[in-house]
Amino acid sequence: MAGVVALDLSRSGIRAVQVDAPYTARPTLSRFAAVEVPEGTIFDGEIVDQRRAITAIKQLWKVGGFTTKKVVFGVSNRKVVVREVTLPAMAGPRRKTSLRFAVEGQVPIDLDDAILDFLPLRNVETPNGVQQEGLLVATVRSSLESTVNAIERSGRSIDAIDFSGFSLLRLMPGSQRGTQAIINIGASSTTVVISSAGVPQFVRIIASGGDDVTRSIERALGISFAEAEHDKVVRGLQGGAATPRDIDAETVLRENIAGLIDSIRNTFSFWANAHPGSPVENVVLTGGGSRLGGLTLVLSRALGVPTEYGNPFAPFVVSPKLRDTGIEQWALEIAAPLGLTLGAKLSAKDDRKAAKSAAKAAAPSRGAQKKASATSAKSAKPTKTEAKAAKAAAKGGRK
Ligand SMILES: Nc1ncnc2c1ncn2[C@@H]1O[C@H](COP(=O)(O)OP(=O)(O)OP(=O)(O)O)[C@@H](O)[C@H]1O
Ligand SMILES: [Mg+2]
Repeated sequence: MAGVVALDLSRSGIRAVQVDAPYTARPTLSRFAAVEVPEGTIFDGEIVDQRRAITAIKQLWKVGGFTTKKVVFGVSNRKVVVREVTLPAMAGPRRKTSLRFAVEGQVPIDLDDAILDFLPLRNVETPNGVQQEGLLVATVRSSLESTVNAIERSGRSIDAIDFSGFSLLRLMPGSQRGTQAIINIGASSTTVVISSAGVPQFVRIIASGGDDVTRSIERALGISFAEAEHDKVVRGLQGGAATPRDIDAETVLRENIAGLIDSIRNTFSFWANAHPGSPVENVVLTGGGSRLGGLTLVLSRALGVPTEYGNPFAPFVVSPKLRDTGIEQWALEIAAPLGLTLGAKLSAKDDRKAAKSAAKAAAPSRGAQKKASATSAKSAKPTKTEAKAAKAAAKGGRK
């Protein structure tokens, strides 16, 4: 059965899940493998050491026994910028070519080194005619190319790439009524996706994640990163420190988490001010950083809404072959790449083009770089459900 392998590229390792019958009504998780990678191989979701990453990818296929070389992966890191923008209503190829000019000055990144996507959400009447409100996703091209190159050089082909925020939402669309927030806490960044009826409305990437907590403990106690990581995992947020050393560790951990919670709260406030009628009603947590002991309780108190862990396996048939592979322990980490295998399959041509253009941009030719197409695959277009919901939302005359 045709399948794809969803890759989770993390600082501490690469996790891979084979999904059979992807993009259908019965996607099946059939194989899993996880390998550790040495420090410095992957940082902030990007492959930075090609050689080591290629070795790890090949090893994954050996361990996991994957029967396909097609891969999908999600992109979300400190360099990705998502903004609400209003653009002249345009469709298809015209939209693509005009996007760069339409958003000039609207996103704080160098547009010459950006891959741009626009997810239209609704039409609005303005004095200048009908315009489209939507979400612009800007990815730094040079940051993606190293990852794309490593995957292709390992002999794998890229079936789809998407902004992780959108793939998380495909995986956990929430209820058809009300407003939900998915918060994915990674190692270096935290992605917040606010959605209504499964349609993304507002996204922020906060430049802070679980590793920032570890580093604060590392500094406060003068211990190694690995020791600080262990301390953090064992300690959690339960409190009860008695020795001066423990009090120090607990204090920096709490301060760091308080900072992250403040940023999340600010994101919610920003959303609430712009959409007073649609406050966030529940929070779904994913990402390794969300495993910090006691975090769900602390977050739900701080945000004032029910907060619980997502169940990334819910939309899938789980093959009995996965028993004893250890996949359960990585559920929260592999959520984003898994979401890429759901929903209607979008033009693989676009995906390949985006990946290729990113790879080409790595070549010295400036010409090729200039020509590189500006889309990061799937996120350019909503899935069928998203499109339908967006249409319905537009019809409903939402502001
Ligand atoms: N039990 C735990 N308690 C606290 N933190 C944990 C626990 N398990 C993992 N983490 C933290 O989760 C983070 C890694 O999560 P994840 O694998 O989702 O991130 P990543 O994909 O490497 O990061 P990024 O999304 O920034 O690229 C690390 O900061 C790690 O310390
Ligand atoms: Mg990850």
